[in-house]
Amino acid sequence: MPLANGFLSKDAFSSERYFDLGAGFCPHCTLVQLMDPLPPASMFHDDYPFFTSSSAHMKAHFRRLAQGIIRELYGNQDAFVVEIGSNDGTMLQPIAGSGIRHLGVEPSRNVAEAARANGVDTLSRFFDAQVSRDIVNLHGQADVVLASNCFCHIPDLHSLGDGIRSLLKPSGKLIFEDPYLGDIVRLTAYDQIYDEHVYYFSLSAVTAWLGRHGLDVIDAQPQAVHGGSMRYTAAHRKMHNMHPRVDSLRLQEKLGGLANPETFGHFRHRIERSRDALVELLTSLRRDGRRVAGYGATSKSTTVLNYCRINTGLIEFITDTTPLKQGKFTPGAHVPVRPHSDFHADYPDFALLFAWNHEAEILAKEDRFRDSGGKWIKYVPRVSIV
Ligand code: TYD
Repeated sequence: MPLANGFLSKDAFSSERYFDLGAGFCPHCTLVQLMDPLPPASMFHDDYPFFTSSSAHMKAHFRRLAQGIIRELYGNQDAFVVEIGSNDGTMLQPIAGSGIRHLGVEPSRNVAEAARANGVDTLSRFFDAQVSRDIVNLHGQADVVLASNCFCHIPDLHSLGDGIRSLLKPSGKLIFEDPYLGDIVRLTAYDQIYDEHVYYFSLSAVTAWLGRHGLDVIDAQPQAVHGGSMRYTAAHRKMHNMHPRVDSLRLQEKLGGLANPETFGHFRHRIERSRDALVELLTSLRRDGRRVAGYGATSKSTTVLNYCRINTGLIEFITDTTPLKQGKFTPGAHVPVRPHSDFHADYPDFALLFAWNHEAEILAKEDRFRDSGGKWIKYVPRVSIV
């Protein structure tokens, strides 16, 4: 596989790097993870092309979470909120706007710069136990530590766990969300597996991890974003009561076989069937002279294109709103990425929905494409035309 977000220009094709992508399951702590994670600096750098604010729905989702935190901290004059992996500051912006002391930690300088421009104080470093100590020395401990779609990117989970433990006040709460393993397996969403996602968390794995750092999971709430995420809340041991839904989710995971290696053997078979069905569909459309374009040059699309060996022989281009990706080519498969204006100027017959996690938002705004006879192709949970 190439880097999932390694969008590149033609002159860089010959120097493109490839690596082995494989996920494994630990029967002891039940964690699913990449076997050979890449060094974070090769993925999160000064031209990181993902901006949280690129989805209006995600923006609204994070703003709702931020409003809840603002309400919870109301009256706490000295409250301090830290977000790890704060990207362009989408979640911290309302917290900053309400006057609460805050700090974002974001190693990719370009997105951190966008956050600062939005009034969000941001430290451009990779969070770990040392950075945590530095933050505590400068600002004190935090009432709330936030992270979204970030912890699954951090290879050294134990330095992260130590860092969170020392950063949180005794009564503080850690709130983080990441794609949920139960949904990935249930939906055959194998495209969530790529270099940046080192971990595919379940409640049982998160409990085992945080337990080693003196933290208890006190809540776990499923979220209908990113194709199925889980929002975990954790705190120092015995400082808060656990919500009863944590136990029901534990039972659900047990019954769903998330701790059984055989579950992942079945998952693999479904992935292979999904790949074959998608390639067969695209090949027959091409044979019939139908035009297909991709929609959303997501990180996930890199996994699909390269695993299924789909290139410009099967899809013409991928449309995406992110200026940093436009005019470039997708990693490995080298499909051109074009702005939405190109998509609207000359609709293809079919649009392959790589940004399937934003389906509601995208289908609602692209009604003209459907009215003009265009059809959507989905591959999650199964290959279908809608
Ligand atoms: P996303 O699915 O959030 O993440 P990932 O890269 O982690 O798989 O990425 C969404 C991508 O889709 C991003 O490049 C912006 C693009 N996009 C559009 O082009 N149009 C849209 O309407 C939306 C919602 C996203």
